[in-house]
Amino acid sequence: MKRAIIYYSLSGNTKEAAEYMSQKLNLDLYRIEPTKPMPHKMGKQMLIGGMQSTFGMTPKIKGVPENIDVYDEIIIGTPIWAGKAASPINSLLKYADIADKVVAVFTFSGGGDNEKCISNLAKKLKNMRRSVALADKSNEAFSKNHEKLDEFMEGI
Ligand SMILES: Cc1cc2nc3c(=O)[nH]c(=O)nc-3n(C[C@H](O)[C@H](O)[C@H](O)COP(=O)(O)O)c2cc1C
Repeated sequence: MKRAIIYYSLSGNTKEAAEYMSQKLNLDLYRIEPTKPMPHKMGKQMLIGGMQSTFGMTPKIKGVPENIDVYDEIIIGTPIWAGKAASPINSLLKYADIADKVVAVFTFSGGGDNEKCISNLAKKLKNMRRSVALADKSNEAFSKNHEKLDEFMEGI
């Protein structure tokens, strides 16, 4: 059974969680990115990222492994944008044809919208059996992140 983590992260939170998991579980790790970088200013990020996710847009991405077919199971990590998965994840699911291999998802957010995001993803990911919601430093749930991740990892 070969498994990999594929994630997107704009400001580093999802990256940190993905790296923690890949080290603990010894899984291959891939970071996808839009080919056109997101703007640096927060206001513009909110505008562009929020619009892309709201409307299910699929920006061109890079970083999908060429040998993606060798993996039996894939774990996806994504920030939550406008209550949904970040738009590069839409692209991953649309272009890489991996939806049926996704067994677990971890999300990072300001603290809200996890259920909405996961129920939205569940419509596309019929084999998803596990998810975990992680929260930013600014949220009181932040202190539970490692505990939640450890429990998540035990179940996948
Ligand atoms: C475009 C954009 C939209 C966002 N929308 C939400 C949201 O709807 N709900 C929420 O709780 N956090 C929202 N956030 C906050 C991020 O989900 C959160 O900061 C997350 O930890 C970022 O992950 P990253 O550091 O891996 O990019 C948004 C951030 C951005 C940039």
